Amino acid sequence: MKTLVNVLGVAAMAAAMTFAANATAGKAIYDRACKTCHGADGTPNPGIAKMMKVDMKDLKSDDVQNMSDADIKKIVTDGKGKMKPVKSVSGEAIDNVVAYIKTLKK
Ligand code: HEC
Repeated sequence: MKTLVNVLGVAAMAAAMTFAANATAGKAIYDRACKTCHGADGTPNPGIAKMMKVDMKDLKSDDVQNMSDADIKKIVTDGKGKMKPVKSVSGEAIDNVVAYIKTLKK
């Protein structure tokens, strides 16, 4: 019985840690795959916006923060307007990067 309690305790801890790890892992992915264009904290890189001749939304803004996780995932996999699909980010990495973006909320 004691063993079972221990196992459950470890599982709960692992679950809590996985959640924290997602956004942390997401930051590393963001820094590698998104930061050049979207800025360190989600503020669009003005040089990129000018070069692409497009108004990029601040990732911290309500417009982006109110998007569903699925919508953001779709932008990463399918692209949006002038943003090309980010092929280097797939599977779990997309969930992690979306989790990270949600932590940027002002
Ligand atoms: C080469 C530059 C570039 C990279 C790299 C890039 N983006 Fe974008 N992203 C853009 C541009 C430009 C737009 C605006 C597209 C438009 O409206 O035409 C955009 C739009 C978005 C939007 C919607 C907000 C808006 O402005 O409409 C989200 C969310 C987003 N990007 C997330 C990401 C994530 C997550 C990554 C990394 C996995 C990423 N982007 C990588 C250039 C980039």
